Amino acid sequence: MSNTTELLQHGAELFPGEVVTTAHVRHLDLPLQAGKLALITLDNGFDHTKPTTFGPGSLLKLSAALDQVEAEASEGKIVGAAITGKPFIFAVGADLKGVELLQQHADALAIGKGGHEVFKRIAALPVPTFAFYNGAAMGGGVEVGLHCDYRTVSAGVPAFSLPEVFLGLVPGWGGCTILPNLIGAGKAVKVIIENSMNQNKQLKGKDVFELGIADAIFEPADFLEQSLLWAAKVLKGDLVVEREAIDRGKAWDDAVLWGRMVADGKVHGAAPAAYKALDIIAAVKDADLADKASLQAGFDAEDAALADLIMSGELRSGIYAFNLVQRRAKRPVGAPDKSLARPVSKVGVVGAGLMASQLALLFARRLEVPVVLTDIDQERVDKGVGYVHAEIDKLLGKGRIGQDKANRLKGLVTGSLDKAAAFGDADFVIEAVFEEMGVKQTVFADLENVVSPTCVLATNTSSLSVTEMASKLKHPERVVGFHFFNPVAILPLLEIVRGEQTDDASLATAFAVSKKLKKTSVLCKDAPAFVVNRILTRFMGEIQNIIDEGTPIASVEKAVEPLGLPMSPIVLLELVGPAIALHVSETLHGAFPERFTVSENLGKVVKAGKRGFYTWVDGKQVLDPEVLELLTFGDSVLTEEQVLSRALEAVAQEIGLMLAEGVVAEAQDIDLCMITGAGWPFHLGGITPYLDREGISERVNGKKFLAPGVASVPAQA
Ligand SMILES: NC(=O)c1ccc[n+]([C@@H]2O[C@H](COP(=O)([O-])OP(=O)(O)OC[C@H]3O[C@@H](n4cnc5c(N)ncnc54)[C@H](O)[C@@H]3O)[C@@H](O)[C@H]2O)c1
Repeated sequence: MSNTTELLQHGAELFPGEVVTTAHVRHLDLPLQAGKLALITLDNGFDHTKPTTFGPGSLLKLSAALDQVEAEASEGKIVGAAITGKPFIFAVGADLKGVELLQQHADALAIGKGGHEVFKRIAALPVPTFAFYNGAAMGGGVEVGLHCDYRTVSAGVPAFSLPEVFLGLVPGWGGCTILPNLIGAGKAVKVIIENSMNQNKQLKGKDVFELGIADAIFEPADFLEQSLLWAAKVLKGDLVVEREAIDRGKAWDDAVLWGRMVADGKVHGAAPAAYKALDIIAAVKDADLADKASLQAGFDAEDAALADLIMSGELRSGIYAFNLVQRRAKRPVGAPDKSLARPVSKVGVVGAGLMASQLALLFARRLEVPVVLTDIDQERVDKGVGYVHAEIDKLLGKGRIGQDKANRLKGLVTGSLDKAAAFGDADFVIEAVFEEMGVKQTVFADLENVVSPTCVLATNTSSLSVTEMASKLKHPERVVGFHFFNPVAILPLLEIVRGEQTDDASLATAFAVSKKLKKTSVLCKDAPAFVVNRILTRFMGEIQNIIDEGTPIASVEKAVEPLGLPMSPIVLLELVGPAIALHVSETLHGAFPERFTVSENLGKVVKAGKRGFYTWVDGKQVLDPEVLELLTFGDSVLTEEQVLSRALEAVAQEIGLMLAEGVVAEAQDIDLCMITGAGWPFHLGGITPYLDREGISERVNGKKFLAPGVASVPAQA
């Protein structure tokens, strides 16, 4: 053991800031006179808001607890050992802050090995072992339990996952090896690959039991008591745990193939983690949980994969992205003091169209205050209110809300054509009318005549100037940009725009409202199309130019696949709608004619009323011959490599200019916007870490966006 201890002590020196998890051992008399059980409780000394993690110091504590339990087991003082967590949390895995500090491959390898060595000691105890998953369990937390002989889970567990692949790692403390041998490769691939790549989908206690990861499930109220009783029965032989036989034939190979298809669909080979995890799953097909030695090859492969990934840019980008959405999103940079925010107890929504109706639903659900919609005629108002009520009924139907809540929410959302009566006592009115400056200015001018002096006027404009929109008002200081993304319920981003005259109180109110709406807010300057639409339009514009100049659409689509974007640019165009895309490109062309082009071909698609470049024939997506007929192409054909670098160079140039203009405070905000507003992938870290890593930032702007060590392996000392 001294070798492991040394490894971990060295790790602990590298990570002096670790919040160390202790492993308390207490002894309990089991029911049914089954004997004494040593119960190890993992606890970092904080409440559930700071979940328990494993760094090297924590592993040393667990190892010390195992010294004691091992001795007691050999001396016959205990009949079993169990592990559980502090209230609400079992353990959420490796401490990522420690991972970020690692600079040497050897140190990364040591952390993997250290974890394995400690967890293997649980499996090697001479008494039966149990994990009682009492609360949230992720990554290494799940894995410590996998090394036990038996597991129980609380029906109240809200989140249980192996999120490593999502971040750019593999479950490397036993997950890739033990899980498929416990529940079969198919289910393991679902947990390790599919859930993880599906925005880190979490399992609930019930799923953990149904998948066979836990052998028993109990209600949270008396979870520990019931788990002890269950363990007593197992120890006495009154209860024999039967698990489904594992199919180690074709089903195993098919599961791995399926996993590769899922990974290809998401990242097209661009991020290595999922593929490495699948290689390990494929390689442990002939292992056997009853023969511990047969697992070692899998554990060694996990160590190697983990160390390689820890030293890779992809993982650093993944952790960077994770920190952005977990931390930076909660403390928006540049937001005014929140004490300046005014209370909002009634909301007005002008326009009852696509966006306005979604906004009304969101405001009502999250703020639980009256929300009044208006539009130009009663029919449109009724349609908007009808949409919101129908969505509330859907939530009721799915059991997401109860009947009382549904009634209350429906009662909160009403419509009116009388703006004075509807908005006179509103504290926050947002407009989502047509994207035309004149219309929006008139709407705000009318509103100013009826709302109270302190009412904030917000605009959901995607591309128009907030300053200009406010310029004709008596009180332009109350106007803020509040730019949501469609679909509002799915994309977390809210770009909050400060106009030239916007005052701190209005801005602080906007941030406070955003927080209640549970949105990720980023403060933006009032610059054309703000952040996401400007970058996407530049990217799509370059793609369109390349197509117009002569590169076939299919090669262009293939060329950008390695980025692993949520959808191809052409599919995105269809989703946004060619007319809207054209409109935004015209707006940006007006602002920056030298960089933003307006494609004649796109204009023709819009004029013909087509939805995009593709159509469906016999269930297959093909280029629409009628659209192709309309278009004219040049004869310059680029290679896939040339396409990709041209598109990315355009993006790098635009981001460089945006930062120089002060559109947002830092490159980190650009990435946060691209991840939460456009679904750009974690493994790219949004986009700037990738541009830095590929040398594109330096080629285009003469420097990297991020400091060394931010989203990259720190330079070795
Ligand atoms: N559609 C998107 O994906 C999206 C995303 C983000 C922001 N936006 C922005 O949101 C705004 C609305 O877009 P949409 O897609 O919901 O449009 P939409 O056409 O679905 O809805 C606009 C609604 O505004 C109403 N309207 C027009 N003039 C009005 C007036 N003077 N008073 C009251 N109502 C009036 C229309 O009757 C219509 O119902 C635009 O500024 C758009 O740029 C749209």
